[in-house]
Amino acid sequence: MRFALMLTTVMAVTLFCAPLGLPDLSIPKDNPQTEAKILLGEVLFNDTRFSADGKVSCNTCHEKSKAFTDHLSVSKGFKDRNGTRNAPTVINAAYFTTQFWDGRSPSLEDQAKQPPINPVEGGLHSHKQMEAIVQKDEYYKNAFKDVFGIKSNEITIDHIVKAIASFERTIISGNSAFDKYHYGGEEDALTAQQKRGFDIFLNQGRCVSCHTITGSYATFSDNRFHNIGVGVKRLGGEEDRVARAFLKSQRQGKKVDVEVLSNKDSSELGRFAITNDITFMGAFKTSSLRNIEKTFPYMHDGSLPTLETVVIFYNEGGRLTPQDPESKFLDGGIRPLNLSQEQQQDLVAFLKALTSPEFK
Ligand code: HEC
Ligand code: HEC
Repeated sequence: MRFALMLTTVMAVTLFCAPLGLPDLSIPKDNPQTEAKILLGEVLFNDTRFSADGKVSCNTCHEKSKAFTDHLSVSKGFKDRNGTRNAPTVINAAYFTTQFWDGRSPSLEDQAKQPPINPVEGGLHSHKQMEAIVQKDEYYKNAFKDVFGIKSNEITIDHIVKAIASFERTIISGNSAFDKYHYGGEEDALTAQQKRGFDIFLNQGRCVSCHTITGSYATFSDNRFHNIGVGVKRLGGEEDRVARAFLKSQRQGKKVDVEVLSNKDSSELGRFAITNDITFMGAFKTSSLRNIEKTFPYMHDGSLPTLETVVIFYNEGGRLTPQDPESKFLDGGIRPLNLSQEQQQDLVAFLKALTSPEFK
């Protein structure tokens, strides 16, 4: 009886039927979706008490009305402390095989542990502080009992992040004009200009070689790491020195997430900071492009303000002008594209067709 009941609760909310254009979402076996857990996760996501000044929640940097971003080039944490990186959207983050620009976290559960105790984000000293807040709060006491069947003194950070991750697994959006056209067979869903832009995306622009589209769905990311030239202005030619300083900080016991979010130079090492493998120097995770019109500014450092500047950047082969230096670690897939002004506008128009109805 009890089993049957649980199964219906899980089935009611698990994404068996993803929106048009997205694959079904896999849910970790040890963290099944339930309605009560998702609701609890949303409350935790919005709780500003998990920060040193009581003002910063996940929602501060991932605001629903801003397509789950903050629209800042780099995020501000407690007491307006500046980080080094742009806040990516949480929409569809559940589909990534790693989290963060450098993929240093393997899951949404693990990811959610980091911001509250990062010295430029939540600024708490330890997860114990979070647990203490939750254990004393009447609403949380009851909710954790309902969801996990535990007493208040048994609530740990692992329960907290499970609930947050379950909430994030409901922030899934497809069904854009592109999906209606490409997967729904609605010929009129894209304008003629957007159709030309799609052709450029697939062919002359070679965007699809990293921003993946398959026959039945599109997450727009290969889940891999590439140096596309964004960090070269800051790091160009200095890679060896910065890498050595970073490795020294690691030997001295500095945590990677603290170092990359508080030191602008270390931030630019990208995936190298995680793998210590030189082939990943300045490489960052391929972003999803869904809802891209609404998640400005762009790139890991928020350095490109508009989609027009992004397209110029790619058209010049990973630079803004032909005079800019090129990274010696640049990915082989990034070369000048020779797109005309009109083609560049077409490509921008196509990117705007990736917005889901709920974020229009
Ligand atoms: C102070 C602003 C700030 C706060 C608070 C914050 N984030 Fe973030 N978030 C960021 C930034 C900046 C990044 C990228 C950092 C990096 O890649 O090193 C990020 C990355 C992420 C990612 C990875 C997405 C991807 O595409 O890889 C997820 C998921 C996420 N945050 C969820 C959360 C959750 C859940 C919380 C609350 C527990 C939270 N964030 C709190 C700014 C913030
Ligand atoms: C070699 C792989 C590769 C190719 C080819 C590629 N991209 Fe990207 N794209 C990436 C990576 C990696 C990032 C994140 C880079 C960073 O922040 O340093 C990115 C970021 C972006 C972003 C910003 C996302 C955000 O949330 O800030 C946009 C927009 C974008 N790409 C569009 C395009 C378009 C349009 C094309 C074709 C002209 C293209 N990309 C070709 C790998 C690629």
